[in-house]
Amino acid sequence: MHKPLLVANWKMNLGISASALLAKEIASHYKNNSSYDLWLAPSYTAIEATIKASASSGIKIGAQNVHWEKSGAFTGEISVAILQELGASFSLIGHSERRHIFYESDEMLAKRAECALNNNLTIIYCIGETLQERTENKTIQVLEQQLSPLINLIKKFTSKNIVIAYEPVWAIGTGKVATIEDIQIAHGFISKKVSDCTGEIVPRLLYGGSVTAENFQDIINLDVVDGALVGGASLSVEKFLPLMRICSV
Ligand code: PGA
Repeated sequence: MHKPLLVANWKMNLGISASALLAKEIASHYKNNSSYDLWLAPSYTAIEATIKASASSGIKIGAQNVHWEKSGAFTGEISVAILQELGASFSLIGHSERRHIFYESDEMLAKRAECALNNNLTIIYCIGETLQERTENKTIQVLEQQLSPLINLIKKFTSKNIVIAYEPVWAIGTGKVATIEDIQIAHGFISKKVSDCTGEIVPRLLYGGSVTAENFQDIINLDVVDGALVGGASLSVEKFLPLMRICSV
């Protein structure tokens, strides 16, 4: 069993002061709680302030994406070195909004992940099927395809700095949460596939997609779930605190 991990993805919300304020409130309720890990992913511009606001709490701060080159002509992108200079210790990679709104391919995501791992930046690698893929019974096929670059990376780097997030695209920000059975099947498949292919300890496996205080207890009770990646319900202390409480028991 892994230590539970709760990750807040603030997406393109909250500026510097709002992020710092929320991080401070969250940190005051976390206080180096050793029963679970807590990570926050604010906007790039708010990383430094969020780190300061949560200093000495044990909370880790990271980014929502990272580029695969050291530097260069890549307008709008950010490098591992720039993130590490800010103090970021992890990055999301392959969030469904990156895959589907910005058309980031598996190949591109593999490059992002490899560069991060080469430079000791932990990654949360996101995978998940669309509604159409699910209705066409292609969920497992899609997960297998999206996992394939990650499996190569686990073989190369071990699973130490890797977290996997299963986020069915149709459940993100929609209020439609996957059923316990859907989650059990998807997570069970991912764990087995990774351990069969790599012989490694399977990385922590998070569920994401409309996680709230109402559904989180049943989700985290599953053996195959190590925590959650939370968007909407991480944007206010009132909604996030109940999730923290569920993790802390
Ligand atoms: P949501 O977002 O909790 O708002 O569905 C989850 C995510 O996108 O990581």
